[in-house]
Amino acid sequence: MNKELIVLGIESSCDDTSAAVLKGSKVLSNIIASQAIHKEYGGVVPELASRAHQQNIIPVIDTAIKNAKVKKSDIDIIAYTKGPGLLGSLLVGSSFAKSFSFSLNKPLVSVNHMKAHVLAHFIYEKDKNPPEFPFICLTVSGGHTQIVLVKSFTEMQIIGTTLDDAAGEAFDKSAKVLGLEYPGGPLIDKYSKSGNINAFTFGKPKIKDLDFSFSGLKTSIMNKINSSLMSNPNFIEENLNDLCASIQHSIIQILLDKVEKAIIKTKVNRIAIAGGVSANSYLRKQLQLLGQKLNFEVHIPKFEYCTDNAAMIAMAGAIKYEYGNNSYKDYSEQASARLSF
Ligand code: KG4
Ligand code: ZN
Repeated sequence: MNKELIVLGIESSCDDTSAAVLKGSKVLSNIIASQAIHKEYGGVVPELASRAHQQNIIPVIDTAIKNAKVKKSDIDIIAYTKGPGLLGSLLVGSSFAKSFSFSLNKPLVSVNHMKAHVLAHFIYEKDKNPPEFPFICLTVSGGHTQIVLVKSFTEMQIIGTTLDDAAGEAFDKSAKVLGLEYPGGPLIDKYSKSGNINAFTFGKPKIKDLDFSFSGLKTSIMNKINSSLMSNPNFIEENLNDLCASIQHSIIQILLDKVEKAIIKTKVNRIAIAGGVSANSYLRKQLQLLGQKLNFEVHIPKFEYCTDNAAMIAMAGAIKYEYGNNSYKDYSEQASARLSF
């Protein structure tokens, strides 16, 4: 890995506008502008997200370059999120990246957002080693839930995926039923801290192999809450912490059961977690405990590299630039909402 390579990363796949500058694998700056506007709608509104990206993109990139204390001409490559994500949002970041690359005459590298979540593990962190190959990465975000077998920087294979909702969606939809703001995952995490995980039990999915399903759990949670509200209109307020803890425990248990299965199936005993849900404190703790019990290595990224961020896009861009064999000035390459892995 070229330790001197200066990379500008640009992320705009959903509702965070982010820009980062890396030197090799070291983060010089990582700026994230989150869009509060979606809170009042209970979810991301694509049209509003694109508009907010348009407002934010120049100030965010300007701040990232200034905070990194580099000049524009010092930037060696420009990496941007090609997909998957919301098309209108992706178009803002990708169009900016192309123009910037064109004006500076520097290579342009397109990045797959889901691979970037995995490759966030290679961002330099003091006193921490990245996972050795092969490792298994549980990538859990608002849009995806995947178990990925990572054989090398360029060889990744999805060995398990969700058949319906993503784990983050399960958190956010449950939170909505509880009357909590979007995104509900961090709030469920917070309220769970003083709740009882065994207060309520919800239906457990029976999905074969390494695949997931969360829609049945959502129905089970909704049924429990609706029937309880009929006899006690204050049911949610009176039981909020216990409800959150029980819901969180159910979602995380589904994930951990599959991690255990993946280790048995692949015989790979190094597990990494990535994506927004990997910021969940209960998942982080329970995975460590399971690792100690079953004797597997656990890799958990810093909070700021779990949720959407441009540092991971810059890292993935640097890796693709060094290990791939692509053309790096393809200005006709299109952003893709459903970019495959
Ligand atoms: O990776 P990410 O930032 O964006 C996507 O690519 O989707 O993930 C966002 C998801 C949301 O569903 C959010 O509720 C969830 O990550 N999330 C959490 C926590 N922090 C973020 N879920 C549970 N506990 C958390 N602490
Ligand atoms: Zn993401």
